[in-house]
Amino acid sequence: MKFHNNIVLIGMPGSGKTSLGSIIAERLELEFCDIDQYIQEKENKTISELFLLGESHFRQIESNAVLEVSSKKSIVIATGGGVVTRPENIAVLQQRGTIFYIDRPIEMIIETIDAAARPLLEDNVKRIYSLYQQRKHLYEACCHYRITNGLSLHSAVDQILKVIV
Ligand code: S3P
Repeated sequence: MKFHNNIVLIGMPGSGKTSLGSIIAERLELEFCDIDQYIQEKENKTISELFLLGESHFRQIESNAVLEVSSKKSIVIATGGGVVTRPENIAVLQQRGTIFYIDRPIEMIIETIDAAARPLLEDNVKRIYSLYQQRKHLYEACCHYRITNGLSLHSAVDQILKVIV
C-alpha cells in the first residue's frame, strides 16, 4: 500500500459509501466502520430516533463518533452525508485519513435511495437537490480524491484501489 492512514469515504446519502467501503476493506483486509451503524449500536437508537431529539443533538453524537472511530489506524470509514457540515469533523478526518469523495449523479441517487431510513429525506426525497447544492463545494474542497460512482460500482472500487495500492 502507498500509505497507512485511514481511508475515509464522504459524499451524499445514497452515493454508495457503505457498499464501496465494505468492498475496499475486504479487498485490503482492513477493518471497516460505517459511522451511522457505529452510532446506532453505541446509542442503541436508530438514526431517525436520534433526529427526533434534534439535528444538532445528532450532529454532536456524529462528531464524537468521528473522533472515536478515526483514532484507530488503517481503518476504512464510511461517513454520513452530513459529516462535512461541521468544520471540526473535516479537520479531524483530513488529519487522520485520506478522503475520497464518492460522487454519484444525483438523478441516480434519487432512483435508488431508501429515503425512509434517512430523516432529512423521508418526507420529501427531492430535498436531496438542495442538500446537494449546500454540500457539493464542501465535499469537493475537503477531499483528497474525487471518485465517480456512476453505472459501475466496480469501476469506483478500481478508482479507489488505484490510488491506494
Ligand atoms: C445524513 C446522512 C445519513 C445519516 C443522517 C444524516 C445527512 O447518512 O448520517 O441521516 O445529513 O446527509 P448516509 O449518508 O449514510 O445516508
